[in-house]
Amino acid sequence: GRDKAEYMTSLFRSVLGFPKEGINFRDFMPVLEDAKGLQILLEGLEKALPVPADSFDSVAGLEARGFLFGPALAARLGKGFIAVRKAGKLPPPVIGEDYTLEYGQARVEVESDAVSSGERVLIVDDLIATGGTAKAATDLIRKCGGTIAGFSFVMQLEGLDGIDSLGPYPTSTLVSMP
Ligand code: PRP
Ligand code: HPA
Repeated sequence: GRDKAEYMTSLFRSVLGFPKEGINFRDFMPVLEDAKGLQILLEGLEKALPVPADSFDSVAGLEARGFLFGPALAARLGKGFIAVRKAGKLPPPVIGEDYTLEYGQARVEVESDAVSSGERVLIVDDLIATGGTAKAATDLIRKCGGTIAGFSFVMQLEGLDGIDSLGPYPTSTLVSMP
C-alpha cells in the first residue's frame, strides 16, 4: 500500500531547467526501468481505476509516454488499446482533432476504425499538466462516437487545474507534485 506508493514516488527524477528555464521536469522513465517500480505502477493503476473495469471497453493511451504502459494496463484488464498519436504518423483513414498549446497549434489522430460507436474509453497518460493534451484526446474520442469513461494519470502537476479543465469525468492520479 503506502510503502509501495512511496517507493514508486521515490523513483521519479526531477530535472530543473528542462526542456526550458523555469520548468522542473518530472521524469517517470526511472519508474519503468526499475522492475519493482514497473510492477507497482501497473498494480497501482489497476487498483486506483477511476471506474470499475467492467464499465469501460478499451484503454486509449497518449503518445508517447501513454504508450509505455497503456497496452500493459489494457492487457491486465483484458481490454484492447487505442493509440492516440501526434499528427502525421498514422496511415489514412484517420480522424483528427486540433488543439492549442502554450505556443502554437498541435493535432492528435486515431485510425478511423479504432473507436466504435458507443465504445466506452478509459484515457491514460503519464502526466497531466495543463490538461490540453488529455482534453484534445477527449474531444477526439467523442468525435469518433466513443464516450469517455474516465482518466488514469500516473502524475498530476499541482496548481495548473489540469483535471478541472477536462470536465466532469472520474479521474485517478497516483502521484501529485508541484
Ligand atoms: C507530455 C505528457 C503529456 C502532456 C501533458 O507529453 O506526457 O502527454 O505533455 O501536458 P498538458 O497536460 O499540459 O497537455 P509531451 O507533449 O511532452 O509529448 P511526449 O510524450 O511525446 O514526450
Ligand atoms: N514532466 C513531464 N512531462 C511534462 C511535464 C513534466 O514536468 N510538464 C509538461 N509535460
